[in-house]
Amino acid sequence: MGKSSHIVWHDTLVTKNDRRFRNGHKSCVLWFTGLSGSGKSSLANALDIELFHQGLNSYVLDGDNIRHGLNSDLSFKAEDRKENVRRIGEVAKLFVDSGQIVSSAFISPFEEDRQLVRNMFDQGEYIEIFMDCPLYVCEERDPKGLYKKARMGEISNFTGISSPYEVPYDPEIVIEADKMTIEESVNIILAYLKEHKIIF
Ligand code: ADX
Repeated sequence: MGKSSHIVWHDTLVTKNDRRFRNGHKSCVLWFTGLSGSGKSSLANALDIELFHQGLNSYVLDGDNIRHGLNSDLSFKAEDRKENVRRIGEVAKLFVDSGQIVSSAFISPFEEDRQLVRNMFDQGEYIEIFMDCPLYVCEERDPKGLYKKARMGEISNFTGISSPYEVPYDPEIVIEADKMTIEESVNIILAYLKEHKIIF
């Protein structure tokens, strides 16, 4: 239960299906999850460019960017990560309602929190994409130099080092992120979207 009372839900007059019909494709959330440095943002953005060029309505919600604005009040403690993921889930739901294909790129390390987001959506709208990449590869890449800092104890609660990452229980798509190229990975996701009649 939220803290607000006397709040009445208003149904919108233009429905999700009206928007989907006009767009010529369905809407969904592609929920990328994986360690920092596993390639979530790169793949989400590569996919987004492809969808955009195909004339489809898409958008990327990116962990680092959202933490600069909407979620700038949240830390990396487990309870704040939960709130981070919950808020993004709600935002993604608005995007799906607006008829778009939204790619969200957040570590989202806890299965329970991801399940909570999954349950916000109708069947088939939430597509979990696990970026399967060994920790040592992410650490070698270390694009932001954060693993090094975490190893030196300069960053606490760092996922994979001092905070756990729970491997997804039943993701819709697994990307072997240390073996596949971005192009191959984009094609796997496009094939999934076509197979499930989200795009045509
Ligand atoms: S999540 O766990 O709450 O889903 P989110 O995806 O928003 O994380 O943010 C992760 C990004 O924040 C990482 O890619 C990294 O750049 C940065 N970061 C800073 N501190 C940490 C930390 N303690 N653990 C993980 N990532 C961190």
